[in-house]
Amino acid sequence: MPGRIVVGTQFGDEGKGKVTDYCAEEADIVVRFQGGNNAGHTVRIGEEVHRFHLLPSGILRSDKLAIIGNGVVVDPTVLLREVEDLRGRGHPVDNLRVSDRAHVIMPYHKIIDGLEEELKGKMKAGTTMRGIGPCYTDKVGRWGIRIVDLIDKQVLKEKLDVIVPIKQRIIEALGGTKRLDTETIWKEYSSYGKEIEKYVVDSSVLINKALDEGKNVLFEGAQGTHLCIDFGIYPYGTSSDCIAGSALIGTGVGPGKVNEVLGVVKAYTSRVGTGPFPTELKDKNGEHLRERGGEYGTTTGRPRRCGWLDMVMLRYSARVNALTSLAVTKIDVLGGLDRIKVCTEYEHDGKVISEFPASMRVLAECRPKYREFDGWKERGSKEWTELARKGYHALPGQMRAYLSFIEEEIGVPVEIISVGPAREETITRE
Ligand code: IMP
Repeated sequence: MPGRIVVGTQFGDEGKGKVTDYCAEEADIVVRFQGGNNAGHTVRIGEEVHRFHLLPSGILRSDKLAIIGNGVVVDPTVLLREVEDLRGRGHPVDNLRVSDRAHVIMPYHKIIDGLEEELKGKMKAGTTMRGIGPCYTDKVGRWGIRIVDLIDKQVLKEKLDVIVPIKQRIIEALGGTKRLDTETIWKEYSSYGKEIEKYVVDSSVLINKALDEGKNVLFEGAQGTHLCIDFGIYPYGTSSDCIAGSALIGTGVGPGKVNEVLGVVKAYTSRVGTGPFPTELKDKNGEHLRERGGEYGTTTGRPRRCGWLDMVMLRYSARVNALTSLAVTKIDVLGGLDRIKVCTEYEHDGKVISEFPASMRVLAECRPKYREFDGWKERGSKEWTELARKGYHALPGQMRAYLSFIEEEIGVPVEIISVGPAREETITRE
């Protein structure tokens, strides 16, 4: 620390929730900086399993502030539901703060998300239908509603009077039949504003003050580098920047204040949604990864597409994020496979490609070049916990060879290894 960013290096679902919760032990503040409730971060503590879509994963550590930064898009119905749920499980949630500048997902955003996806044909991203894209579109189009507007009834009314009739016309033009009523939306959303108000702050002030005092701030990313609006598999990714640079914009902190970027790497690749995926497996190995890894979307429940680890993707992620260390997750899931493959380069049109292409047509035509590794035997959770307790050198030799290869190829050290969902199933390397 003091300023440490956690980012996904693949297509999201790398295990950032668990890694953030683990790293949060050393932090004073955990702040989410982009995305919304399209994310699904799972944190397991003992027998308790928590799935957060919007709340920062650090929320369970009541001695730390958990902040939703300005770069996040907030669906107040989800926020209040997650707060209520946590309270019901005995967590007070007094440590939550929400940026006054974060944008709000409105009911018309969700309607438009669904209608646009239906019309997009081949360009469909397979969105989570949570209104994420339309909300970010309105932010950039300068007709979004911000949290600060929700708590000012007058301003909210003035804005909705302009926005809602236009959204109605857009919905109809897209073939929708849903009727919007300004008065109903105004009443509903100003009542959310009232409930959320106690959490609302200028979070940039809080975060900068903490950093200036030498406190540790953990910046929690959502989705992953290859879903990023600028650096991901456009147009099949999400609508926010998911890379380390986004942590600064999404919280109001300058670059000099952050010194570490931890990249979370799942030991294989998975993907929900559409778009090219060079190392995708449609055979029994893919089935092994999906079933053993529980690769079903936390947010939508959709089965995830699974494939081998891809170094072309990871080298790219190391570059655009300036990664300083890696957390390799779900490596236990590979247990029981005889041979494990890793893609080192692509072959396209008789040429070797080692940089991730921008063209989706080229990417779809790329054939992976693989290097093979020996597998290791399958183990149960108790055995992994025991190995984790003993430390890195107790791990199977084949697994250590696999990890060494990853760090040498990417040129970034592996700091954390996760061999199961629980906090105890984690190894930190000195
Ligand atoms: P949206 O973010 O709902 O607009 O969805 C755009 C694309 O990003 C879709 O392919 C989603 O499946 C994918 N996506 C969004 N959030 C996540 C996530 O947290 N994990 C994995 N994929 C995601």
